[in-house]
Amino acid sequence: MSPPISPTEQPTAPPIPVPTQENMQGTSILTGIFGDNPYFQAGFGLMGVGVGLTALRQGLALGSTAIRRRMLVSLEMNNKDHAYEWFLVWMAHNASTSSQKRAAHTWLRSHQLSVETAFEQRSNGSSSALFRFVAGPGTHWFKYHGAWIQMNRERETRSMQLMSGTPWETVTLTTLSRDRHLFPQLLTEARDLALKGQEGKLVIRTAWGIEWKQFGQPRRKRPLHSVVLDTGVNERVERDVRAFLARRQWYADRGIPYRRGYLLHGPPGSGKTSFIQALAGSLSYDICLLNLSERGLADDKLIHLLSNAPERSFILIEDVDAAFNKRVRMSDDGYQSSITFSGFLNALDGVASGEERIIFMTTNHLEKLDPALIRPGRVDLNVLVDDASPTQAKTLFIRFYGESDEISKEDIDRMGQQLEELTAMEMRQGRRISMAALQGLFIRNTVQEAVAGFRELFVDRRT
Ligand SMILES: Nc1ncnc2c1ncn2[C@@H]1O[C@H](COP(=O)(O)OP(=O)(O)O)[C@@H](O)[C@H]1O
Ligand SMILES: [Mg+2]
Repeated sequence: MSPPISPTEQPTAPPIPVPTQENMQGTSILTGIFGDNPYFQAGFGLMGVGVGLTALRQGLALGSTAIRRRMLVSLEMNNKDHAYEWFLVWMAHNASTSSQKRAAHTWLRSHQLSVETAFEQRSNGSSSALFRFVAGPGTHWFKYHGAWIQMNRERETRSMQLMSGTPWETVTLTTLSRDRHLFPQLLTEARDLALKGQEGKLVIRTAWGIEWKQFGQPRRKRPLHSVVLDTGVNERVERDVRAFLARRQWYADRGIPYRRGYLLHGPPGSGKTSFIQALAGSLSYDICLLNLSERGLADDKLIHLLSNAPERSFILIEDVDAAFNKRVRMSDDGYQSSITFSGFLNALDGVASGEERIIFMTTNHLEKLDPALIRPGRVDLNVLVDDASPTQAKTLFIRFYGESDEISKEDIDRMGQQLEELTAMEMRQGRRISMAALQGLFIRNTVQEAVAGFRELFVDRRT
């Protein structure tokens, strides 16, 4: 680029540095041109402006790349990482608090929201949905401790994550380099927020492709003593699990895989599921719920899931008999479950890549289970969780009505005693009552009604 005219030739040129080949660029030439030179008007002047602007624009473009490189820092998180989930929760939390005009340090401007629904379908048919608005794909800005941070959420639509079938997503945070120290702080805050939501709660995960994903919101823990099992059963299982957890080194020294399997069998509504959940809660363990009849689950995925369960979790396989009832199992939609029994045994025996593995299985039909499954190493403790025993009936009754103000403690005890005897009497005639049925009776009725309607609920369990 050569200047339209050499400024040195102008007698009235302002006292500016004499442009040489080296510095004849950018601002110096502009000032040179716009010195009050009478020749520079109209055409020449405009031409000069054009040249100057081009130079300026090039300079700016170069400059912004340099600024971006030198002065901005970016942090990328993808949805394979915990931080990704934590950040979105944090973002949603802050967006909702700032919209309540309580904006602390965070201010969020988003026109693009996406909704994440935690949907939960319970076995009794009820369901709940919780909507959480999070920043959708696109670019958003927010201010954090005085620093502006740009957030860019992108969804990769073309490729899916192998096996799990969820699209790749990334969130990129960009801020000025001098504020880079805010990233760890922000992530710590996000993590603490996410973990606080789970504190004292039971987290349940389900298999999603080959990954374990949180299912619904964390639930309130159920106190272990609220599940009333027959005398000693509760303690026996709890003691076994605790002993196992304390013997990690013992297993390691002997080269034995550090894992243990439990089978709880018995009629429906006896508290198998409730007990396992309460036990997990009392040990601060999570539950990984595995449904063997789930469509799309194949032997190789099963092996992967069993050996890659998150730390501190029980793997819970409910109704373990159901998956292998028939040789080829067809579900309602004619879909063929592709788990084989031998594949399942392999997965149970397989080397866990995780440190420890605790599997709980439940069944209503012990007799339907292949003896190969109940072998030690696969099932180490096999426990019967039965219909209400006389003691269980009394204990549950006192649990429900013992706090009542209207009736004295002595009367409650006496009635409990009465129910205990009634239960023993019914049992001698082969009639039983499930704990779930008892719970239902006690929830719906007053003490007197419960005692009066008690015997009606027994059913013949002789086959
Ligand atoms: N032993 C028990 N103690 C207290 N509640 C029980 C017991 N057994 C069943 N229930 C109640 O009955 C319902 C069904 O129990 P659940 O644990 O699902 O039984 P299971 O898994 O054996 O079929 C739950 O609401 C639970 O609170
Ligand atoms: Mg159950």
